[in-house]
Amino acid sequence: MTNPLRLGVNIDHVATVRNARGGTKPDPVRAAHLAIQAGADGITAHLREDRRHILDDDITRLRAQIDKPLNFEMAATDEMQKIALKVKPHAVCLVPEKRKERTTEGGLDAIGGHKQLSIFIPPLLDAGIRVSLFIEASPSQLDAAKSLGAQVVELHTGQYCYEIGDARTAELARIAAAARYAAEIGLECHAGHGLTFETVGPIAAIESMTELNIGHFIIGEAIYLGIENVVKRMRVLMDEARSGTGTL
Ligand code: PXP
Repeated sequence: MTNPLRLGVNIDHVATVRNARGGTKPDPVRAAHLAIQAGADGITAHLREDRRHILDDDITRLRAQIDKPLNFEMAATDEMQKIALKVKPHAVCLVPEKRKERTTEGGLDAIGGHKQLSIFIPPLLDAGIRVSLFIEASPSQLDAAKSLGAQVVELHTGQYCYEIGDARTAELARIAAAARYAAEIGLECHAGHGLTFETVGPIAAIESMTELNIGHFIIGEAIYLGIENVVKRMRVLMDEARSGTGTL
């Protein structure tokens, strides 16, 4: 397996820690620089409607200061569309957002939301921003993403990470099948949510996968090991799984 696999580091939870006290430290932009120095291929940040972690100024500074692609996660709202069109990130990843959830629960419903998304997406594409939809690993969601003009899908790995034993194996098979189908219909395939050192290998080994976006585990583990060491280790595990030399 030789297809390159990118690592996108999500730095939202550096901002979570900062916002616990207000002020400016720890700075998620500094974390982004360190992650890139350690081998991250891109940075992901989710500007939520309630601004619980990343703030508008973080997005502006990330866009101005980092020299790797910025993947701007956002809900499909008018407010976020305006911000995206102003900031012009490399890509936007459209996610469902509920105020009361702790983290993004489930994928975007590209079928149920088709009408709204078919109006929402074109201005982003016209501005030269790549559009990714965070969806469940289901062929009908992939077909809907394709028909909406998205170039990328990000498959939700939350359930795969949560399950154990046979249920995890079944979920992995579902993700692998969806990744193959995405490639067949011409969609670039990414994945993310809940990935850790323990769970990343089998997802990284899926040949048509081109990018993994990982946040909470990396930032949490960085408390003990430092963000550079964690990113480097994640990179090694991804590369080993990709080349078939890993033990996971
Ligand atoms: N991808 C998407 C679309 C997400 O919403 C998130 C969580 O913000 C992630 C990846 C990263 O998930 P985690 O923080 O669990 O690694």
